[in-house]
Amino acid sequence: MAQKAIAVLTSGGDAPGMNAAVRAVVRSGINSKMKVFGVYRGFNGLLNKEIEEMTLRSVSEIIGNGGTMLYTARSEEFKKKEAQLRAADFCRSKGISGVVVIGGDGSFQGARALTEAGINCIGVPGTIDNDIACSEYTVGFDTAMNTALEMVDRIRDTAQSHDRCSIVEVMGRRCGDIALQTGIATGATAILVPEIEYNTDDIINRIVKTQKTGKKHFIIVVAEGVGKVNDLAKEIEDKLHIEARATILGHVQRGGSPTLRDRVVASQMGYKAVQLLANDIGNRVVAMRNGKIIDLDITEALSMKRVFDEELYQIAKTISI
Ligand code: ADP
Ligand code: F6P
Repeated sequence: MAQKAIAVLTSGGDAPGMNAAVRAVVRSGINSKMKVFGVYRGFNGLLNKEIEEMTLRSVSEIIGNGGTMLYTARSEEFKKKEAQLRAADFCRSKGISGVVVIGGDGSFQGARALTEAGINCIGVPGTIDNDIACSEYTVGFDTAMNTALEMVDRIRDTAQSHDRCSIVEVMGRRCGDIALQTGIATGATAILVPEIEYNTDDIINRIVKTQKTGKKHFIIVVAEGVGKVNDLAKEIEDKLHIEARATILGHVQRGGSPTLRDRVVASQMGYKAVQLLANDIGNRVVAMRNGKIIDLDITEALSMKRVFDEELYQIAKTISI
């Protein structure tokens, strides 16, 4: 019987820890006597036949590296049925019966489509946003939060020296988790997230209230999905007559060496994905629930709605005064 073969790809925005997940897939797969192919540049690699058989040593020295050694892409072409069938044919031509897809929920839709085309796929949550409803944790989140934390701490030094208000935009288009965690950890006076409506007067009132207790510098952490940080800075300057500066942290949050947590969770999730494929199980997403690694159906995973941690948000509001 021919040796079983699987493949691994990274898709969508890169996230620190993706390399650790790739390493876990390659090493667990080889340990289970399977061939493991690395697919370059997301789903595009299956369309452009950009794959390479991996060895144990192909993934040496990558566990601590940010980015993804397999590169990543957003493939519009792969959204078409014709492309998905072509990718599945290519997998079959190489004897590949399963693919581990490391990415966000867009990538999981691609994984489901490829499974429907006949190749078992397993999704592994890899995105800094922590915006995958079925999993309480996504690989990359811890590193991104800690980078944002360090950056906001630095911004606080200068805000404090000038008695200014600093407004810092962190990543997260649809999810305020990076903003919430960073905001609470840096003692931000206000945290703005896409999940909760805000009005500028409330923020102004909070600043005035704390000014009366002697506070002279302020940090406001804003999620990317809320945006408009320059407008907010201008409004604060106009209404409060204090200097305000806006900083957009941007892609600095996506890079850097993954934290211990990201390396460990990525290793656990990559291992779990291979166990499923080794048992010919596909169309599943690996997730974390109550700290344990579980798997669930992709369609079920994609239909779940994310729950924002309003309790933590309220704690932040109560104590940052
Ligand atoms: P993320 O995985 O981080 O959410 P995207 O939403 O950009 O990122 O999706 C990554 C890639 O997944 C897309 O560029 C595309 O190749 C694939 N993809 C997304 N949605 C679909 C879909 N409905 N069908 C097939 N492939 C999809
Ligand atoms: O999903 C991760 C993320 O970094 C989001 O926080 C951000 O909105 C988006 O990707 C930016 O994507 P890019 O700059 O790669 O288009």
